[in-house]
Amino acid sequence: MSAKPFSFKLLKTDGMARRGEIETPHGIVSTPAFMPVGTQATVKAMYPGQVRETGADVVLGNTYHLMLRPTAERVARLGGLHTFMNWPHTILTDSGGFQVMSLAQLRKLDEDGVRFQSHIDGAKYHLTPERSVEIQGLLGSDIQMQLDECIKLPSPREEVERAMELSLRWAERSRRQFETMGGPEKGQGLYGIVQGGDVPDLRVRSAEELSKMPFEGYSVGGLAVGEPQDVMLRMLDITTPVMPVDKPRYLMGVGAPDDLLESVKRGIDQFDCVMPTRAGRHGLAYTRFGKVNLKNARHMDDPRPLDAETDCPASSVYSRAYLHHLVRAGEGLAAMILTWNNLAYYQSLMKGMRDAIETGTFDDFYQKTKADLARGDI
Ligand code: GUN
Repeated sequence: MSAKPFSFKLLKTDGMARRGEIETPHGIVSTPAFMPVGTQATVKAMYPGQVRETGADVVLGNTYHLMLRPTAERVARLGGLHTFMNWPHTILTDSGGFQVMSLAQLRKLDEDGVRFQSHIDGAKYHLTPERSVEIQGLLGSDIQMQLDECIKLPSPREEVERAMELSLRWAERSRRQFETMGGPEKGQGLYGIVQGGDVPDLRVRSAEELSKMPFEGYSVGGLAVGEPQDVMLRMLDITTPVMPVDKPRYLMGVGAPDDLLESVKRGIDQFDCVMPTRAGRHGLAYTRFGKVNLKNARHMDDPRPLDAETDCPASSVYSRAYLHHLVRAGEGLAAMILTWNNLAYYQSLMKGMRDAIETGTFDDFYQKTKADLARGDI
């Protein structure tokens, strides 16, 4: 018997901002959504139940890391990624190409795929569009990504164009493999990825060509790779209007709170980023009033919590003085509390945006959030 198909409902729009719901075999994802990064089958320093309590409907896993260790076949034998990591809700996986390019050794990319050596033990691998979809199927992820080539910016136009055209051909091959493996019948979704760097006509061509292919959703890749924010936002301004209205749109690897606000305003529905989790392990807290560096000596005698007005214990119970002490002492609890605070803040920002779109007040929310962030932590 086939599962209920992957679906996306667009519930409300306010300007270009969209409020929606993605349904997968593992639940409903309210959009705009922020997806905490759980690269190695764990959101670092957080229990799965705690991640859920912050308001996350979906976490992200990585093909590249999991294919190397513990291997997709082992995860499949152990019941799939949801069971393995004790996260019964939706899981999205990235396809591996992006991580190969940033982490693997001795990479060689050609039409067929990418050959590389593991950064863990030097073992050799060959990742093709078909193998990436096969691995994501073994993991059992609900939302899968095509293999693509993301190049750094700035790059010459010819390079950007070559990578974008290759990614389009890999999109077709990924889709064929996904259909062969019965992905849609299992209720899973495969997203195509728009590339095209910072070149407007290449972005438009990529989005238009991908839109002709029957994906369950469409990602915007190749951004936040070294270009200034205004370049990224200009690319979104020209890309989202040529993406399908009735499918989710996912901006990969973004971003800071202000990036999320600006991107939702331009019609993006899903995000992932290591910022809140990585910052939490480095003594940095995200709050409504911007970033707070708890290493700083100014917190040494400060009895105030990070934000007394939230109901997250990480934000409202522990004093800044205590957090400063934990960070300075290199204690593991510092990473746990700060990651928790940061994810809770990110989720409250997303909920604020969702509620504002529903009530047609996105612009007010946008202005107020910008003003709060600009005020800074005092
Ligand atoms: N994560 C951040 N950017 C990208 C991208 O362009 N492609 C993929 N596959 N993952 C990403």
